[in-house]
Amino acid sequence: MIRDLHHVGIAVARLDDAIAKYRSMGFAVGPAGTVESEGVRLAFVLEGETRLELIESLRPDGVIARFIEKRGEGMHHVAFSVPDIRKAMADLRGKGFEVIDREPRRGHGGRLVTFVHPRSLHGVLLELVQVKSPVRTELA
Ligand code: CO
Repeated sequence: MIRDLHHVGIAVARLDDAIAKYRSMGFAVGPAGTVESEGVRLAFVLEGETRLELIESLRPDGVIARFIEKRGEGMHHVAFSVPDIRKAMADLRGKGFEVIDREPRRGHGGRLVTFVHPRSLHGVLLELVQVKSPVRTELA
């Protein structure tokens, strides 16, 4: 039901600085995009099948801004692919996990995503990303 790691989300104070830093290390970084509904701007660091999601808050009261205020910049969540997000949500909820959303939300690139509360998983915020095809041809 849950497949491979899709990305690791990293909260950053200034996205452009973070992009420049990862590029200086030799990583490819995709174009920055805005997810208005989530109040974030983000970009993916790409290496083969591996992705880091660099996330900056668009607003001082956004979840990413509050995370950085409390805990500093750094690892924010891990995301795994699922073929059917609604099924995964129902299944996890049935097993007692605290799925944050009633319905999946639209994440970067219009993908359906949801989150499992860190209370349910030893302090780790888990994101599920619906990826229908196991073949990875897309960049972000
Ligand atoms: Co993410």
